[in-house]
Amino acid sequence: MNFYETDRAIAEYLLFHYGSRELLLPYAFGPLNALNFPARCVTECLDPARLPTSARALDLGCAVGRATFELARFCSQVIGVDYSQRFIETAGHLQKHGSIDFEYIEEGELTRRGRAIVPDEINRQRVGFEEGDAMNLRIDLGTFDVVLMANLIDRLSNPLRCLQRIPGLVKSGGQLIVTSPYTWLEQYTPKENWLGGLERDGQQIKTLETLKLILNPAFEFSFAKDLPFLIREHARKFQWSVAEASVWIRK
Ligand SMILES: C[S@@+](CC[C@H](N)C(=O)[O-])C[C@H]1O[C@@H](n2cnc3c(N)ncnc32)[C@H](O)[C@@H]1O
Repeated sequence: MNFYETDRAIAEYLLFHYGSRELLLPYAFGPLNALNFPARCVTECLDPARLPTSARALDLGCAVGRATFELARFCSQVIGVDYSQRFIETAGHLQKHGSIDFEYIEEGELTRRGRAIVPDEINRQRVGFEEGDAMNLRIDLGTFDVVLMANLIDRLSNPLRCLQRIPGLVKSGGQLIVTSPYTWLEQYTPKENWLGGLERDGQQIKTLETLKLILNPAFEFSFAKDLPFLIREHARKFQWSVAEASVWIRK
């Protein structure tokens, strides 16, 4: 069973994307700067000054859609694409109704009811969600001023195949934002397709360096930065990770 189709994943990602500080991390000693990851992918990586007036954005591997909605603060049309049917159904519900009720784990079998809410000021009419495979996207998606790939590449069986399509999706001067904690696992990606995290011919391969090789010469590397994020498993268990965000400008 694909984890991203499970009840547990829906609840974890709804909390991850929409959960309040009080609900997610009611501990004063917790890593508060790891909250609001999907919004920070946009606020800390996108340069709004580079966008045309009617910008188009694509959020590849959008999950339950928070970053897709956040992109709509700056872009008049945003498409969120994900392979998980249930994530896309959930994101579609949020687009239509602005909120969704769900149940999340507190401890063991004990659960609580929560409500994920899209911030009121975001124009949800700008956003659409669809199922799709990032390694085999429909050919008529068009081109975009922004493409965001947040924590996607290390969940693909063939990330290179996905990245090879990207130059054709980004308009000249457009921005590509790639974030990943580079958690390469054979469960998702056969080792021969890892972009980093292993040795080849006695050389240590780092994912950012491979991204530079793949994305050059179509893109100019702009900058990289650390983006911490926190996924709550239950009231007393969290995954704290540090994604590396890299930002690229289409030549
Ligand atoms: C680690 S999650 C990251 C989700 C979201 N971007 C975020 O930052 O919270 C990986 C996402 O990629 C999606 N995914 C996995 N394989 C995919 C594929 N081939 N095409 C599109 N999405 C895929 C999963 O369903 C999941 O939503």
